[in-house]
Amino acid sequence: MKYGVKSVSGVPGKAMIELGPVKDGSSPIEELMELTAQSLTRLEIKEHFNVIKEIGRGKYGRVLLVTHRCRGTPMALKVLPKASTQLKGFLREYCISLRLSSHPCIVGLFGIVFQSNEHYGFAQELVVGRDLFAIIKPRVGISECAVKRCAVQIASALEFIHRLGLVHRDIKPENVLLLDTQCRHVKLADFGLTQKRGTLIQFISSTLPYMAPELCAMVQENGQENPKAPPLSIQPSLDTWAFGVLLFCILTGFFPWESCTSADSFYEEFAEWRQDPGTTEIPTQWMRFTPVCMEMFARLLTPEPNDRSTADVVKGYIGKDWVRPKHANLLVGDRGGVSTMTPLSSPCRSSPVLQ
Ligand SMILES: Nc1ncnc2c1ncn2[C@@H]1O[C@H](COP(=O)(O)OP(=O)(O)OP(=O)(O)O)[C@@H](O)[C@H]1O
Ligand SMILES: [Mg+2]
Repeated sequence: MKYGVKSVSGVPGKAMIELGPVKDGSSPIEELMELTAQSLTRLEIKEHFNVIKEIGRGKYGRVLLVTHRCRGTPMALKVLPKASTQLKGFLREYCISLRLSSHPCIVGLFGIVFQSNEHYGFAQELVVGRDLFAIIKPRVGISECAVKRCAVQIASALEFIHRLGLVHRDIKPENVLLLDTQCRHVKLADFGLTQKRGTLIQFISSTLPYMAPELCAMVQENGQENPKAPPLSIQPSLDTWAFGVLLFCILTGFFPWESCTSADSFYEEFAEWRQDPGTTEIPTQWMRFTPVCMEMFARLLTPEPNDRSTADVVKGYIGKDWVRPKHANLLVGDRGGVSTMTPLSSPCRSSPVLQ
């Protein structure tokens, strides 16, 4: 079997070496990428769009609020600098976004894709609310009702993505867009890291709180040249884990841990409880949840990826209570240790993402 070794982003210092999928003929997405490449329009942004303001910025690109010069339609233009973006990666993001955009909980597209002198870009539906990160109160989270509304919609979007043989790979609150502040309608966005399931990766250079243990095990230590573990096959279970972490974050306003490694005592405590929930005490930061909610977390956050539930498991828990009324404020300091957890705050927003 042959794998093509390639760099994902072309950005110096990028965090992951991707070995690429097993060569098994081209998929519908790859075909769409080829067709898009052949007809990629060249235009200058200001000639075709009125740029009103920047509405978002991520690690890879900027999102601009624009109106179309001819029709006046408001749009969210995602622009990626050519200097730090590979054409192939851009085409993949656009084509996957287009393929997925028919789902009601995934951001829509206009079918406008282009290159300017300095950028690649495509037009997305403008989602007028903010993103989910912006409404999380640090150390508090958001209401259980709103969390449950998000949970069902994100689970449905993930089910759709996974059924098409894709893995989102960047599930986090910043990538969930809100049509209203009560989370009655949310849309998953940012398919910049999405890949076919089965794509192999060799190592990563840093970890994030949303990364599953099997991914954190691939982290390359300083100066280490040889891979620490065999290549990892990207699977939907990575999204399920990140979804579990996202639910903890939005229910509490804290990250449950910084990384799933033995050096992280918050993760270690959880992993010990997860292994033997009958006899091990629930770690303090999880005590605010009901036993049934802990059962759901245990299924989403199963360390062994093959035993992990699929994201839609949350649907069976929506009618049940998740947060114990008496324990709602336990995190804010009655017990030792918890105050050292990382609250969700702006520095974490820009932490490096998986690539
Ligand atoms: N269609 C949209 N409507 C409104 N705001 C949007 C839209 N798309 C993205 N945004 C905002 O812009 C931010 C950055 O967008 P996006 O996540 O696509 O960029 P990125 O560079 O790929 O980010 P990341 O650092 O997560 O990889 C989002 O977190 C969100 O706040
Ligand atoms: Mg993003």
